[in-house]
Amino acid sequence: MPALVLLGAQWGDEGKGKATDLLGGSVDYVVRYQGGNNAGHTVVVGDQKYALHLLPSGILSPGCVPVIGNGVVVDPSVLLSELSGLNERGVDTSKLLISGNAHLITPYHTEVDKVTERFLGKRKIGTTGRGIGPAYADKINRVGIRVQDLFDESILTQKVEAALDFKNQVFAKLYNRRAVRPEQIVEELLGYADALRGYVADTTLLLNDAIDNGQVVLFEGGQGTLLDVDHGTYPFVTSSNPTAGGACTGAGVGPTKISRVIGILKAYTTRVGAGPFPTELLDADGDALRSIGGERGVTTGRDRRCGWFDAVIARYATRVNGLTDFFLTKLDVLTGWERIPVCVGYEIDGKRVDELPFSQTDFHHATPVYEYLPGWSEDITKAKSFQDLPKNAQGYVKALEEMSGAPISAIGVGPGRDETIQINSFI
Ligand code: IMP
Repeated sequence: MPALVLLGAQWGDEGKGKATDLLGGSVDYVVRYQGGNNAGHTVVVGDQKYALHLLPSGILSPGCVPVIGNGVVVDPSVLLSELSGLNERGVDTSKLLISGNAHLITPYHTEVDKVTERFLGKRKIGTTGRGIGPAYADKINRVGIRVQDLFDESILTQKVEAALDFKNQVFAKLYNRRAVRPEQIVEELLGYADALRGYVADTTLLLNDAIDNGQVVLFEGGQGTLLDVDHGTYPFVTSSNPTAGGACTGAGVGPTKISRVIGILKAYTTRVGAGPFPTELLDADGDALRSIGGERGVTTGRDRRCGWFDAVIARYATRVNGLTDFFLTKLDVLTGWERIPVCVGYEIDGKRVDELPFSQTDFHHATPVYEYLPGWSEDITKAKSFQDLPKNAQGYVKALEEMSGAPISAIGVGPGRDETIQINSFI
C-alpha cells in the first residue's frame, strides 16, 4: 500500500512539481493537503510549461486522480480560472476531486492579508497576499466557510454574517476601510456552487479505500519544511503544516498508512519573503544562482533570495519529517563554480552548533560554517545515471547525502521531465 508524501525540505520552491510529475505516471492519486494558491509548481511536459498554484500537479498526468484535501484553503475564483486555463490548453480536468471540508478563501480574506501586511510595515511577513493566513485564522477561530457551505444558502449566509460581524468592525475602526456587505459575498460564493458541485467528494473515505486497495497515493506538500507554522522560522512562515504530519491531518489518513516520505532538496538554497536565511548571498554568486536557476516566484513573480546549500536545514528536515529519501534538484545550476561552499554548521555568539537552534534569537544570529567542495565545469544535463556525472558532481551529491541524513534517490539535472537521474525507485 504505497502512500508517499513528497514535500519541500527547505523554504519551498525546491522543484516539487518536477518530482510529482515524474512520479505521476505510476501514481493513482495526487493529493494536496495544505496551503492554497500561494504555492507555485512549474511542470514542463515536452515543450509545454505549466505553472500551477492551487491544483495538484497530478492534473497533468492522464491516469491520475488529482485531489484537493480538507487541509487546503481554496479560492474558488482562482480554482475555476486555473481549471479553464488548463482546459483551453487541452488538459482534461474532469477527474479532480475536492474535499467538502476544505475551507474557502473569500475576497475579505485577501483584503485582510493585504491590509495586515501594510499595517505591519517593516515587520511584515512578505506574504503572497492571497488571503492564506486570514483563511486559516478563520478556520481555527471557527468562523471559516467550507466548500460544502456553498450548497446550503441559508448556512452560507449565517456563516458569512458571523465572519463579517467582527471583521467589519476591524475594517472600519482599525484600518479605516469600508465594511464588506455579507449579501455581496454570499452572492459571489453562490455563483461558484454549480461549477464546483461535480468535483466535491468525501475524499477521506476515498483515499483510505484507495490505500487499502493497494493503489498508489501521493501526498504533495506546498511550500516547505522551514515555512511550516509549527516547525519553520516562525513568524516568517505560512499558516499551515507542509511537514509530513500535515499530510495526515490535511487529507484524513492515519500515520500508519504512510510508507515513504520524500524530501525535495535544492542543490543550493532559496527563500521568498522575509525571515532569517543564514547562507543568503548578497553578492555576485547570489545573482548568478538567481539568474542561472531562474529563481523568480511562480506565484508572485518576486525574485527569490539565494544562498549556498545548508546541511543543517537538510538534517532538520530529515528529523521533523522522518524523511526516507531525498530528491536533489537543480544540480545543473551549480555547474561552472570552481569550488562550492556548503554550510555544515553555524557559529552562534562564538559557539559552533550542528543542529538548528530552537531559539529564534539564536537562529537570527547564526553565521554559516562552510566546507568547500570541488566544482565541475562539464554539462551534466544529459547525464542518465549517477556514473555519467563528473567525479566532482558525484562527490558533491555524496557529501550532501552524508550530511543530510537520508539517501538521495533521484537527482534533477535540468528542467525537463526526462532530465532526472533515478537512483532508487520511490514505489
Ligand atoms: P503566505 O503563505 O502567503 O501567508 O506567505 C507566508 C510566507 O510563506 C511568505 O514568506 C511567502 O513568501 C512564503 N511562501 C508562501 N508560499 C510559498 C511557496 O510556494 N514557495 C515559497 N515561499 C512561499
